[in-house]
Amino acid sequence: MALHHQHSNEHHDHDHDPAAETDASAMAELLDLDAEVLEPYLSEVTGWLQELAAGPPRRRILDLGSGTGAGTLALVRRFEEAEVTALDISPHLLHRLGDKARDLGVADRVRTVQADLDAEWPALDAVDLVWASASLHHMADPDRVLTQVFAALRPGGLLAVAEMDSFPRFLPDDLGLGRPGLEARCHAALGEEHTARVPHLGSDWGARLTEAGFGIEAERTFAIELTPPLPAPAGRYAQVSLRRLRTGLASRLDADDLATLDTLIDGEGPDSLLRRDDLTVRHTRTIWVAQRP
Ligand SMILES: C[S@@+](CC[C@H](N)C(=O)[O-])C[C@H]1O[C@@H](n2cnc3c(N)ncnc32)[C@H](O)[C@@H]1O
Repeated sequence: MALHHQHSNEHHDHDHDPAAETDASAMAELLDLDAEVLEPYLSEVTGWLQELAAGPPRRRILDLGSGTGAGTLALVRRFEEAEVTALDISPHLLHRLGDKARDLGVADRVRTVQADLDAEWPALDAVDLVWASASLHHMADPDRVLTQVFAALRPGGLLAVAEMDSFPRFLPDDLGLGRPGLEARCHAALGEEHTARVPHLGSDWGARLTEAGFGIEAERTFAIELTPPLPAPAGRYAQVSLRRLRTGLASRLDADDLATLDTLIDGEGPDSLLRRDDLTVRHTRTIWVAQRP
């Protein structure tokens, strides 16, 4: 298993694989934009979590599948006495997270650990709070990971699982570019893709948490709806999101829909997502907060 504590100049993970490096950079950009555009949601969720976690100080927090640190950095802000360990399989994403923590002056409270949770659970001290946002559905065996989280938490410790109900939506039904309903067709195709490739997405996480021995403290769905005028990075967020979706659905969409997506994703054209004023950001995420008895 690849497990090590990172230092910023130790990364050579994609030196010999340009495609992997490009993919990791694209993922990092998407996660950073997601954090930036959905910052009000993250702030609300972590504020709510702070209320639920009232009582003994939560000094040790673990962010599972941290990506570039949207959750890690929000938790560092909310839990001022805590050290947050960010754990991810991707050295590239952790490297970016480390840079951001340094820029924000919180590097002394953020530790990054590279580990593949499908392979082996790293040796960590007992933790008070675990955050797993949009990560558990990626695991080959999330129930095994939940059992390991249970063991890693001290009694009374909390686990917050945040999962998205679907990919964010950005487009009006009629784009004025031919057939209406492009985004609905993309989401239908994405549903088929997820059924085939990401079977744990959309699981009943409450039931899985109970099965792992946790008591459910709270469950809440956050509906995110941003309407024009959107924050500045929203067009770029839509562009990067739809580019990823287009790549993943190339074999499931017809040529007309792929051509329309290309027109939208194109940064230069008059119909580019970066120029449109009719975009919205619509998204729901559900959070389960569970306690180790
Ligand atoms: C959709 S991203 C979510 C990132 C972050 N939690 C957020 O909300 O912005 C999923 C993350 O899970 C990580 N991941 C996927 N499989 C993993 C595994 N087996 N072990 C550790 N991390 C994993 C990915 O590298 C990625 O950073």
